[in-house]
Amino acid sequence: MPVTQAREIVPATRLENVHYAIRDLACIADEVARQGHKILPLNIGDPLNFDFKTPAHMIEAVYQAMRDGKNGYSPSSGIAPALDAIRGEAVRKGIANIQDVFVTSGVSETVDICLTALLNPGDNVLTPCPDYPLYSAVLAKIEIGLNTYYLNEEDGWQPDLDDIKKKITPRTRGIVLINPNNPTGSVCTRKMLEQIAELARRHNLIIFADEIYDKLIMDDDPHIAMAAVAPDVPVITFGGLSKNYLAPGWRIGWGIASGEAPVIKPYLEGVNKLLRARLCANHPEQYAIKAALEGPQDHLVEVKRKLRSRRDLTMKWCAETSRVSCVAPRGAFYAYPRIDIPEGDDVFVTELIRQKYVTVVHGSGFGQRPGTKHFRIVFLPDEKTLTAAYSIIGDFLRERYA
Ligand SMILES: Cc1ncc(COP(=O)(O)O)c(C=O)c1O
Repeated sequence: MPVTQAREIVPATRLENVHYAIRDLACIADEVARQGHKILPLNIGDPLNFDFKTPAHMIEAVYQAMRDGKNGYSPSSGIAPALDAIRGEAVRKGIANIQDVFVTSGVSETVDICLTALLNPGDNVLTPCPDYPLYSAVLAKIEIGLNTYYLNEEDGWQPDLDDIKKKITPRTRGIVLINPNNPTGSVCTRKMLEQIAELARRHNLIIFADEIYDKLIMDDDPHIAMAAVAPDVPVITFGGLSKNYLAPGWRIGWGIASGEAPVIKPYLEGVNKLLRARLCANHPEQYAIKAALEGPQDHLVEVKRKLRSRRDLTMKWCAETSRVSCVAPRGAFYAYPRIDIPEGDDVFVTELIRQKYVTVVHGSGFGQRPGTKHFRIVFLPDEKTLTAAYSIIGDFLRERYA
């Protein structure tokens, strides 16, 4: 008699808290698309789905690396020319006291490694609410409870400093700051960065400064790096090729560790242990890092021109549409309008996909203050597509909530 396994193979219970609303919704959109409907996708922040192209000189650098046989494993921290280029970029951004630089498979892996290397059971790290959901997913995976601080919609989505102060406990080890922010598009003021740095000093926190969108500030004011205003504070600055350099599929990100050496070095040994355990990031793609950071930056002019125009169109629609209001985004390519509706924003978003084939992501997928409802728009599509999508969402709001 052949033996068959009778019991189901079930996933770990800790995964019950792993949610990723953006991709979860994409499953519903796929189902609707399979029924033959054309979806207007305003949900996934991948510029390559729209009229944006990876700069040619970066593609050439990777192609050349592959032809030159750079197809084996690389050093665990990354290849020397990439690390030099990242250090050079950090210095240009005013970051001093650099203690380490490492390349990862996207910022996603930097987040995973940096949080895993830090936290013991019972510890916590402050994460923003609303939040880019990767942070809470990684924390759930390593069985660390959430400790979130609010971003303040009334204050242009700046971090709510009083809330941060209230939430710091003796077991708080760090704070995550996403700047420019996903999902709100807000950019932190220098004063805010200084105030957060002061709290970090006082409470012995490490700051994880996710600055993956730092070159996508639409109104041309310079981005201020957290680490640059606080050279003495332990900071890991996250950056990568996915957004600024239009190459998300290459999975290249990095971390820049700064602060006083005696304070941060023991933690960096832990980070490097995990970097070695996972061998290395994609090797040939690392050759695009120097090409990106030190080569022509022309693409950014065109990218920012498109983003400004699409942001302005989005804001005009928000201003003209009843039940909708929105803080103008200043960076990245997201808007996070508030909606005044008598049902959950998850229901609104799901029905919008099913009935009108437009995909946005519900605010409850990112977190929001109780009693408020939002949805996130990715305004990467061209003006024609956005205009069509906004007209449909406007009709849907009128029909459903008249
Ligand atoms: C704030 C933020 N951090 C990190 C990531 C992940 O970036 P990567 O493609 O480098 O893994 C994203 C992707 O959307 C993001 O919005």
